[in-house]
Amino acid sequence: HHAKLTLDPAFKVAPVHRRTFGTFVEHLGRCVYTGIYEPGHPTADEDGFRRDVLDLTRELGVSTVRYPGGNFVSGYRWEDGVGPVAERPRRLDLAWHSTETNEVGVDEFVRWCRRAGVEPMMAVNLGTRGIAEALDLLEYCNHPSGTALSDQRIANGAKEPHGIRMWCLGNELDGPWQTGHKTAREYGRLAAETARAMRMVDPGLELVACGSSSSSMPTFGSWEAEVLEETYDLVDHISCHAYYQEKDGDLGSFLACSTDMDYFIASVVATADHVGARLKSRKKINISFDEWNVWYQSRFHDTGTPEDWPVAPPLLEDQYHLADAVAFGGLLISLLRNSDRVTAASLAQLVNVIAPIMTEPGGRAWRQTTFHPFAQASRYAAGDVLRVEPVAPAYETKAYGEVPLMDAVATHDGESTTLFAVNRSADTPMSLEIDTRALGGVRIVEATTLTDPDVYARNTADDPGRIAPRPNPDVEHDPARVLLPPVSWNVIRLG
Ligand code: AHR
Repeated sequence: HHAKLTLDPAFKVAPVHRRTFGTFVEHLGRCVYTGIYEPGHPTADEDGFRRDVLDLTRELGVSTVRYPGGNFVSGYRWEDGVGPVAERPRRLDLAWHSTETNEVGVDEFVRWCRRAGVEPMMAVNLGTRGIAEALDLLEYCNHPSGTALSDQRIANGAKEPHGIRMWCLGNELDGPWQTGHKTAREYGRLAAETARAMRMVDPGLELVACGSSSSSMPTFGSWEAEVLEETYDLVDHISCHAYYQEKDGDLGSFLACSTDMDYFIASVVATADHVGARLKSRKKINISFDEWNVWYQSRFHDTGTPEDWPVAPPLLEDQYHLADAVAFGGLLISLLRNSDRVTAASLAQLVNVIAPIMTEPGGRAWRQTTFHPFAQASRYAAGDVLRVEPVAPAYETKAYGEVPLMDAVATHDGESTTLFAVNRSADTPMSLEIDTRALGGVRIVEATTLTDPDVYARNTADDPGRIAPRPNPDVEHDPARVLLPPVSWNVIRLG
């Protein structure tokens, strides 16, 4: 197969937003306990944070981290997680049928964020709670001092305000599984009044209203419209959530799942702009794609009994293979390509729970296959996102009809240009010709590929390096050409 594309710094989409490379830490399974936090672990620091996970988080290049949920937040009382740890209550977590010990709360999380060099992004509970509790949490976190709640934070050891800029107004309240599930009008009104009150404290906050839990929800489209009719002037973002998996052995459709992400984004942008037009507003609502990943939801069974409320059980511990990482790379390409409206995103999640980083309790930590596309995109995407106008042969998929066999996006920061590309073909390499004339005399300085003869090969604690980016040996210059192996994620750097 042959494909070509053009790198031209004039084809700008938007700046690369650092917040595209956000992730998510929920009180779910082993994400917090034995994930980021495990006192007694050989690498634990003085606060009980695993240094091995901190190192991998930095290497992953994470910008923001959304917290504390997810479905968990819709029943969460943030006050349970502050103050002396020994006095914190244990609570039922209805979302994940677990016991929450509250050993980690907002102060520990923000401390962990500082250590990891990431920006915290906080969600408030609009399931079982409302405006007053959201205001309390905001005052506790961000008010400097001199009020009951800010002084409580100081007494709890955080002299400086947490300074959290980005806030999610609840989570997935369109979903019947959500504690406190609501209609679009009910949620829209509550989100609007919560946002209005939070802005009375700090007009500069960046607020995210809940969009649909997926584009297959029965209310998709009308949910966004009704919620934005209520909240348009009060919020900055609407959220999107999307998870993909290979179904019935249909690898071809799975590798093309970013087609759905592109469609999802275009639909939400059109819906938001339609509401804006009706309101005669010049303001644009952007997208926070604050949950996205490959997730084998069909393999998730609740194996516990109704009497069972375990602490930090292993839940949603998907083990990703090469094909998952290539589909995942396609999703990253979609997020970057849509940077004109997708200005923030959070990979769900960071550790153990559908995550790029895995840990053993008391033991090792390693990189899943999906770690690599994320780390490379975060590291090398810089400056502006460029359209690359790929021309590639197409193939027929059951889920999306005809789809190009190759997908790509580039970024350009004046000195260097990086191309991110996936070959979706199950069996045929793609010879990719890159038209670099508009860049002047640049050359390919590095080309790596993530591939394996076995598309279902995984990384494990015993063989953590099986799937990792390797130098691509098939590179030609004048004209620039790279051979992309079948089922591969590729990074080509020019300078
Ligand atoms: O990320 C796992 C779960 O997926 C989150 O808790 C929820 O928001 C979504 O349904």
